[in-house]
Amino acid sequence: MTSVSTTTPGTDWEYAPSPESREIVTIQREYNLFIGGEFVPPASGEHFTTLNPATEEPLASVAQAGPADVDRAVASARKASEASWGRLPGRERAKYLYRIARAIQERAREFAVLESLDNGKPIKESRDVDVPLAAAHFFYHAGWADKLGYAGFGPDPRPLGVAGQVIPWNFPLLMAAWKLAPALATGNTCVLKPAETTPLTALLLARVIAEAGLPPGAVNIITGDGSTGAGLVGHPGVDKVAFTGSTEVGKEIQAAVAGTGKRLTLELGGKAANVVFDDAPIDQAVEGIVNGIFFNQGHVCCAGSRLLLQESVADAVLDRLKRRLATLRLGDPLDKNTDIGAINSRPQLDKIEGLVAAGEAEGAQRWSPPCQLPARGYWFPPTVFSGVSQSHKIAREEIFGPVLSVLTFRTPEEAVAKANNTPYGLSAGIWTEKGSRILWMAGRLRAGVVWANTYNRFDPASPFGGYQESGFGREGGRAGLAGYLGA
Ligand code: NAI
Ligand code: MG
Repeated sequence: MTSVSTTTPGTDWEYAPSPESREIVTIQREYNLFIGGEFVPPASGEHFTTLNPATEEPLASVAQAGPADVDRAVASARKASEASWGRLPGRERAKYLYRIARAIQERAREFAVLESLDNGKPIKESRDVDVPLAAAHFFYHAGWADKLGYAGFGPDPRPLGVAGQVIPWNFPLLMAAWKLAPALATGNTCVLKPAETTPLTALLLARVIAEAGLPPGAVNIITGDGSTGAGLVGHPGVDKVAFTGSTEVGKEIQAAVAGTGKRLTLELGGKAANVVFDDAPIDQAVEGIVNGIFFNQGHVCCAGSRLLLQESVADAVLDRLKRRLATLRLGDPLDKNTDIGAINSRPQLDKIEGLVAAGEAEGAQRWSPPCQLPARGYWFPPTVFSGVSQSHKIAREEIFGPVLSVLTFRTPEEAVAKANNTPYGLSAGIWTEKGSRILWMAGRLRAGVVWANTYNRFDPASPFGGYQESGFGREGGRAGLAGYLGA
């Protein structure tokens, strides 16, 4: 497949295709479960297929863990908690975490290509964002492992025990790192369940973990669908549940965990406002708007999916935004020039198409640059809706795709009111030259992360998490350790 430029053919210089080679990755025909330090066939005997969403080509057959497999994984984590990993001093745990971090760096190309194949995201994002950040999370938490007694959690903070962790498909390796690194640094053992459309990088990470020599059972990785996830979070042998995914499933998990004494952190959906004032540096803001909603095809919980423009600059910003979008390149995720890759799955594409149709039916104006979509695979063009009002579905519901809803405001007070008019509260962006206005806004926006004159910036030292229906608990930084430590 070649990249398809969204610019009009003949009016611009064409890029030559620059595909990353997939030779570096060896994909097994079939994958088993990683339990007790080895790969074991599922007791269920069942497997399912993971696809390349850019081509619909099957990549591998992956084990579907059933109740007996969940039992076995949890028992293995319990044993490691009591007999090996849970007894190691922090300085020993740190050595293993550094080893994992370095192995991710050494195998960075392999991880990046595998992630783009299984998920559909552009190679430049997996290569420059997902993989380096995953390594950074292990490095950062390795540094904490022997310093927990000096971090304000008391002189001898204790791990909770066994963590059951369920992650989504939008950042498969990175979310595995967000979950495993803090849990391991604090002395917990883990049973991690990757998403069913993107299990392959977690399984490569399992290999890295085995090679790093962690005690068997410290990390167990079990693949499967939502029923495996439900079995894991509901398992009586789990002390702590950490989930990233949809608000709908988050609510189910909260209900399942209520009254059990399990500790819970939830990182759920979002409908973030990205607010541009009339004194903002417009070109910079346009780059931030593009990065805010078109990064990772908009499959980002903290995506800047509601653009709030101050009325006096709205037309100018929209005009420049549209010109910029016409230069984005959509196509082969393995091409190094690609900006927009494939939508992760057929159901996700259906959801995006349904919400976009609702936007049109409710009277918002839909716009996309000229853009030819590849014939096979799951694709959606970068899309902007103007004339959106707060009551529109596309202003309220998480679309989780490359679709931006544009609203306007006149005063800072109106911007705050509109930004906060959402059941979510994960992130927000502010674009203005005035430092005082940034502080004024940041104090009033009900969002866990507020970016100023930038967007979608992540660092392992910076806590991430939400309010309201975006969930609770923080990941990253000192605050993220708290979710894995007991009294
Ligand atoms: P999902 O919430 O169903 O899937 C996330 C993970 O939870 C997967 O590993 C899945 O197997 C697991 N899971 C599903 N049902 C479960 C249950 N009852 N108990 C335990 N684990 C369970 O998300 P899905 O269906 O893939 O996407 C639906 C929508 O959710 C998206 O369109 C998007 O709006 C939102 N979403 C938000 C994410 C975020 O990072 N905030 C990530 C993924 C989806
Ligand atoms: Mg896949």
